[in-house]
Amino acid sequence: MTTDLGVKIAPSILSADFARLGDQIRLVEDGGADIVHVDVMDGHFVPNITIGPPVVAAIRKITGLPLDCHLMIDRPERFIDDFADAGANMISVHPEASIHLHRTLAAIRARDCLAGVVLNPSTPLSVLDEVLGSIDFILVMSVNPGFGGQKFIEHSLDKVRRLRSMIAVRGLQIAIEIDGGIGMSTAGPVAEAGAELLVAGSAIFGDPDPKGAVGRLRRAAMAPFTV
Ligand code: DX5
Ligand code: ZN
Repeated sequence: MTTDLGVKIAPSILSADFARLGDQIRLVEDGGADIVHVDVMDGHFVPNITIGPPVVAAIRKITGLPLDCHLMIDRPERFIDDFADAGANMISVHPEASIHLHRTLAAIRARDCLAGVVLNPSTPLSVLDEVLGSIDFILVMSVNPGFGGQKFIEHSLDKVRRLRSMIAVRGLQIAIEIDGGIGMSTAGPVAEAGAELLVAGSAIFGDPDPKGAVGRLRRAAMAPFTV
């Protein structure tokens, strides 16, 4: 998960057709997707309800891709084991939702999952100061979480740049993921700013050709690095 390997594309199944979820995941896998992003919402931390561990377990059976569970739920520490048992490979939590964040991150790593902290648009980078050594990735929200199809918040570009330099100064290997409003026009700028894992829901599953959309998004993300 470093820039040397180029960007990774993580389709968010939030925008998939849930009645054909297996087919939709196979499509993006055939299109070269690197990761499957799973948005878990509880109707408390965010004003929407989505899916939980049983769906993750069902997805686990039909794909070998890493499963990235983005927990938009209160007190996510209650469910780390459930998501790990279901087959999650990456689990990220919002610091506002987990009082003992350090313990929660340790619990994720103890289950051999990559541990991530998610920053809402209003969450400052300073929340990471004491946990940077305990995480594998940081998920920068470029919309307020809860729904797909929202407009990219431009300020996120500067946030990714500052985060990239904060990680470099500390000499750490931490991947930056970005989520919200990522599409053909924003993929290049966010990759250039330093994001390596690009989550995209509507730009992939809202496209009539989700399989082709994965490659198009990757090319858009790599465009700033191509001469
Ligand atoms: C929003 C979710 C996102 C969502 C992104 O709360 O975390 O993963 O699926 O959707 P798009 O790519 O449509 O902005
Ligand atoms: Zn997400």
